[in-house]
Amino acid sequence: MDSVVTEVAYGLEIKKIKEITELPFPVRQDSPLTKVLPADLKTKDNFVARDPDLLRLTGSHPFNCEPPLSKLYDSGFLTPVSLHFVRNHGPVPHVPDESISDWEVSIEGMVEMPYKIKLSEIMDQFDIYTTPVTMVCAGNRRKEQNMVKKGTGFNWGAAGTSTSLWTGCMLGDVIGKARPSRRARYIWMEGADNPANGAYGTCVRLNWAMDPERCIMLAYKQNGEWLHPDHGKPLRVVIPGVIGGRSVKWLRKLVVSDRPSENWYHYFDNRVLPTMVTPEMAKSDDKWWKDERYAIYDLNLQTIICKPENQQAIKISEDEYEIAGFGYNGGGIRIGRIEISLDKGKTWKLTEIDYPEDRYREAGYFRLFGGLVNVCDRMSCLCWCFWKLKVPLSELAASRDILVRGMDERMVVQPRTMYWNVTSMLNNWWYRVAIIRDGDNLRFEHPVVANKPGGWMDRVKAEGGDILDDNWGELNDKVEQSERKPRADEDIEMMCNPEKLDVIIAYSEFEAHKNSDTEPWFAVKGHVFDGSSYLADHPGGAQSILMVSGEDATEDFIAIHSSYAKKLLPPMHLGRLEGVNSVTKVESIKENVKREVLLDPRKWHRITLAEKVIISSDSRIFKFDLEHPEQLIGLPTGKHLFLRLKDSSGKYLMRAYTPKSSNSLRGRLEILIKIYFPSREYPKGGIMTNLLENLQVGNQVEVKGPVGEFEYIKCGHCSFNNKLYQMKHFVMISGGSGITPTYQVLQAIFSDPDDTTSVHLFFGNKKVDDILLREELDYLQDKHPEQLKVDYALSDLRHVQKGWRGIKGRLTFNILDSYVRGKNAGEYMLLVCGPPGMNCVVENWCKARKLDKQYVVYF
Ligand code: MTE
Repeated sequence: MDSVVTEVAYGLEIKKIKEITELPFPVRQDSPLTKVLPADLKTKDNFVARDPDLLRLTGSHPFNCEPPLSKLYDSGFLTPVSLHFVRNHGPVPHVPDESISDWEVSIEGMVEMPYKIKLSEIMDQFDIYTTPVTMVCAGNRRKEQNMVKKGTGFNWGAAGTSTSLWTGCMLGDVIGKARPSRRARYIWMEGADNPANGAYGTCVRLNWAMDPERCIMLAYKQNGEWLHPDHGKPLRVVIPGVIGGRSVKWLRKLVVSDRPSENWYHYFDNRVLPTMVTPEMAKSDDKWWKDERYAIYDLNLQTIICKPENQQAIKISEDEYEIAGFGYNGGGIRIGRIEISLDKGKTWKLTEIDYPEDRYREAGYFRLFGGLVNVCDRMSCLCWCFWKLKVPLSELAASRDILVRGMDERMVVQPRTMYWNVTSMLNNWWYRVAIIRDGDNLRFEHPVVANKPGGWMDRVKAEGGDILDDNWGELNDKVEQSERKPRADEDIEMMCNPEKLDVIIAYSEFEAHKNSDTEPWFAVKGHVFDGSSYLADHPGGAQSILMVSGEDATEDFIAIHSSYAKKLLPPMHLGRLEGVNSVTKVESIKENVKREVLLDPRKWHRITLAEKVIISSDSRIFKFDLEHPEQLIGLPTGKHLFLRLKDSSGKYLMRAYTPKSSNSLRGRLEILIKIYFPSREYPKGGIMTNLLENLQVGNQVEVKGPVGEFEYIKCGHCSFNNKLYQMKHFVMISGGSGITPTYQVLQAIFSDPDDTTSVHLFFGNKKVDDILLREELDYLQDKHPEQLKVDYALSDLRHVQKGWRGIKGRLTFNILDSYVRGKNAGEYMLLVCGPPGMNCVVENWCKARKLDKQYVVYF
């Protein structure tokens, strides 16, 4: 029921303030947390109930956490208190409920009338407001910077941000009562906690505190409940639009001053030092920290992709997919546009933005949780916004990544490049989600996973890619670039005993140490360590090691241990755990065995020769067993894969091939290969094909892929060089074994009854015996006479026998002219896979007929 009451705010009498019970905009109250988790029982925070879903970023203590990104997004505009990120530098002060109202704060420094005030008096003496505010930790997205080069801070993913309805008074009112000096410029704030370097404190500008647009509060309620201990119970500062580090929790003291705070945490935290300052320089010279120009106050512009989620798989179809996420900015400045790019930043698409905060603004004045909601008094944007855009799935399928960037009202735009800095704060380069093709599915990779390995940065780094290069370190399809040396892992170099690097520990042996009290074996980055010799000396007690016995301890170990601790590990190193590498986890052993799709563009996988079928004097079908009978090859139509083999000197040789078998075949891969035997002209013959010829059943080869710029999607839809096309007709020009990619596309077209695309194929060979897949091609032509026309051509006229009904001779301009006669440019595409001479004819013809390059694919 709405009722009309009168309220006073900023000294003005405001009429018609509604007491609202049903709100027309997002507001939520949560059920309070009641359970103390086992991880906290042994710490000083053993009275704080927490949500088990929160991702712990620094082990169990101090408590620093963020929610899973998708949960944060799904919970909407207001984050439940239980999921709100937490940043504590030390133990949480214990304030029993009975003493909340007696909590006292002192106001001192350059003021005419210093005073102390209890929380109950604050609630009585000052106007009380309720307002939605988005808080953000300056370290949000820090892990991405740490992946490039480790700085001084611990890892944060992209969910170090949350929004709540805060209730309290204005900091300006409390300071105003003490009458600050005209020379005063800053307000110092200090908390009651006692982390390692003394009470946490920092400062904010005095004029900001006096500015209603900035809305700086002393809050005692969050989403209608008394503050949770992690968020500053019973009283904290809330500074909207400014990094969370300035919003002091468990507030005890306010000091008005003419200079910035001299608290240890003000100097040595929450700064973006110049990019050339290394951790060593920062450690050895305080001048970097004491330069107030590098202190951060206002947040910078940020946009994050939440949908698709990390590792989400989406089946490719003709449907649309809605990409979505959130954005926030500092200083009350509105984000004016959020754009996404599917072509690496060449072109951008405008997304639709929703600003839920505006619904509070539009609602006028009303009371909520005992405070006046007066968002309508402000122009400033103090909350995050949500954006979305629908794109056809086929467009995502043709793209390698989704990029997002924002631009604010001042036309400040998010940067393409990362500004690496030693504290790794305010990281806001374009958020990139990589798109991986897994058979018929698209799989998405966010940059990092907050508290464990994963994400495209981990993958790219493990492959030796440079995250900061112009393709985010990703491989492209060039053979040369696929041969990169994986970069050495610094952690492994520090932790491992070089002599044990080749020792393999069986998983069963490792698992036998689960819950062992005497021989705690644990794994870090795929290596096994025996912690028994360190039980007595571990600073956190034996329990810290016993807790992870028989388990993967990578996350906590890497998150909280310094290089000093890592260097203690070599004497405990036992060897490498079977089936696990430095980026995968122990749990992935089982997954590894049962991978659904064989091909991975970044990793070589082994397949085993099961059968070799001799189909002519020099042509063979090699049939390989995949890793398990249910596995799919995962090769989009039109793309190829690499086969890799070692020659007798141990040197790798690799070539691209297109399988003969269809993509839906499980457990098997069949490749048709023409062997180039040694001859007088070529004494060595084809080295790769001869190595293949000498393979025995049971031998293994390595495969990687898919590669190639062309893909046939379905019903004439195809992508080429990341652009989508729809074709009515294909002219296919194949020579010799170049029929294999062509045949893949034919198979896809003619296995789909809805596909009406027509094809004219010119298939050139020297002599009749050389024609591969003739039976299969004739069969397709007989079944689809309206759609498919195959012209066989023989170039060696000496071998053309009587009765040959195909073409005699090589490909000519006339032939090509006849294939496209009556067809409009843009409706047909040429797919070419032949020897250089044949490709050259096509190239010259295209030039002469002015056919655009985008319509000619050379496999
Ligand atoms: N206040 C005190 N007294 N002690 C702290 O450790 N951490 C700061 C700030 N206020 C901190 C503090 C940091 S760095 C951040 S990001 C915010 O609190 C986090 O607030 P939250 O834990 O409520 O999300």
